[in-house]
Formats: sequence, C-alpha cells, structure tokens
Amino acid sequence: MSLSADRTIEALRAAGEATRLRVLSLLAGEELSVMELSRILGQSQPRVSRHLKLMTDAGLIERFPDGARVFYRHAADATARRLIDTVLDLLDDAEGEQDHKRLDEVRRERDVAAAAYFEQVAPQWDRIRSLYVSESAVEAAIDRAAGPGPFQRVVDLGTGSGRMLTLIGARARMAVGLDLSQNMLNIARANVSRAGLDKVELRHGDIFATRLPPASADLVIVHQVLHYLADPAAAVAEAARLVMPGGRLLIIDFAPHEMERLRDEHQHRRLGFADAEMGRWLVDAGLTPCAPIALPPDTDGLTVSIWTAERTAQSNRNAA
Ligand SMILES: C[S@@+](CC[C@H](N)C(=O)[O-])C[C@H]1O[C@@H](n2cnc3c(N)ncnc32)[C@H](O)[C@@H]1O
Repeated sequence: MSLSADRTIEALRAAGEATRLRVLSLLAGEELSVMELSRILGQSQPRVSRHLKLMTDAGLIERFPDGARVFYRHAADATARRLIDTVLDLLDDAEGEQDHKRLDEVRRERDVAAAAYFEQVAPQWDRIRSLYVSESAVEAAIDRAAGPGPFQRVVDLGTGSGRMLTLIGARARMAVGLDLSQNMLNIARANVSRAGLDKVELRHGDIFATRLPPASADLVIVHQVLHYLADPAAAVAEAARLVMPGGRLLIIDFAPHEMERLRDEHQHRRLGFADAEMGRWLVDAGLTPCAPIALPPDTDGLTVSIWTAERTAQSNRNAA
C-alpha cells in the first residue's frame, strides 16, 4: 500500500514540526489524552489540540472521544504507520528522552493509584463488581460464550478475586489466574479453594507480559480488566498470543458509556469500548472475531459486552 504524492506531502508536513514529532514519539508507546500530552509537553491544551488536529487531518493519528475526554493514538492504517515508524527511526531522540521520562512519571502515578486501589478494594471486590451490572445475566452469557468444554487449560488474565476461575474452573483440566495485586490473589486463593478446585494455579504477573507460553490455552478470559489499562490493544495481543489453534478468547468489558466518576472513584481509564475498536484489535492479534454480545443493564447500570474470538485450527502463525 502506498500514498498519493499529495497525501504524502500532507503527512510529511503534518509530521514536520518539533512538537508534532514529540507527540508522534510519545504516542508510539500508548494512547494518551490531550490533558496528559499537554502535561508532558509543558504546553497549553489548546496549543496541543491544534497540533493534534493537524496530524489527525493528515491521517497520521486517530482521535477518539472517551466520555468527556479525548484520546489520541497512531492511525491504524498500515501506510501511515510505516511513515511514522520511518520518521521516528530517523530521529535522534535526545530531546525526546525528557518527554519519555515525563511520560514514565505520568504512567507511574497512574499505576501507583490503580495498584493502591486494587490492594484496598480486594476484600470488597465481589460486591463492587456487581454495582453496575446484572451479574447473573452476564455470568450466564459468559458461560455460554465459553462453550461446554472440557478445557485443557484456561487462563484468566487480571483474575482479581478469581470469579471467572470459580465459574469455569470445574470444566478445566487445569487453570491459571494471573494478577498484579497480591491482595486480590490471596482472595482468589481462598475462593478457589472454597470452590474445591485443586488444579488452579494463581500467579503474580502483568497482563502485558504474562511470561506464559504461546498457544498454551484453549480458553483465555479477560474479564473487566481492559478499561483500567493504558494500552488495551497490547493486552489483547498478549491474551491472543496464548490462544492455541482451535482455542478461544473471551473479553468482557463495558460498552462505551458516560459515567465519568468511575475514573476518579474506581480508577477506570477508558469508559468502555466500541465493537469496531475491539474487533480491529482482535483481528490485528491474528484471531477471528465472532458476533459481539451486548447485555444491557436491568435499570441504570452499564451495558456489558462480550467479545469472543477464535484462533482457527490451521492458523497458528501469530501465536509463536
Ligand atoms: C476490575 S478487577 C477484575 C477482576 C476479575 N477479572 C473480575 O472480573 O472479578 C481488575 C483486575 O485486574 C488486575 N490488573 C490491573 N492491571 C493489571 C495488569 N497490568 N496485569 C495483571 N492484572 C492487572 C487488578 O489487580 C484487578 O484484580
């Protein structure tokens, strides 16, 4: 794929300015809000927004509203990505180092706040989880989407109190639950043992680098985790890497919503995900998405979406 001369010139012009190069470099790591970019660059939000608009119009980056915030990331288009990678590759990024240090600070603050939140809410997590969703309907739908099994190996990423393991674990020869929070893992251990499941391993680990072998699970679950993460697409790719040929990935999260207070009160970063966005991440990760399922709330809660995707039995190229 290539660009017309006009589009190439427009894209190069859009990239050809100091602040805009800095933005392109920052967005290489993760999607960022205008507020975060403005803080890292030390420039006002209107000024940063002008740069962002130029690059959005030129097709270099994508803008996506999320509740009252607006986030930006590199465009999904392969040609635009090639152009950005080439430009960033040529860049002697000594100046950008300071930006990346400030990005690390922003990230660290976010991670510390989220980790403290999970350590603190671990004992009440099962109650909090049911605040915004009709749990029994969601769990029945997850059960159906997982399929009857039996499963060779189930992996539950961001297992929390281990609810998905107790829901599906009895149909698995073995299961692994992974989480960053030790308090959550302790509660999961107690729940799994109470459920009489003895083939469940609970591991401390990061969803972005699970250190689990590729193509090692026939069912991978990511339940209500992605909306906390800075780079949900990377987590989807890591989850997909674990799915064996013929296996399945279930992602359960919120559909787009406007409950802004969940950011401050419960550390949510993203206010839900659109089907198109998730579908693209699943395809990019080498899986075949099935039709998404939307489960509207009983009263004034949130809609929960279940995205299922499969790795076809013959195609395990992306799993290695
Ligand atoms: C909202 S809870 C969901 C727990 C469980 N899946 C459930 O639905 O009950 C999110 C979990 O993701 C974990 N988590 C957040 N970031 C993570 C990361 N980078 N790697 C692994 N786990 C993470 C948190 O510690 C927390 O236990």
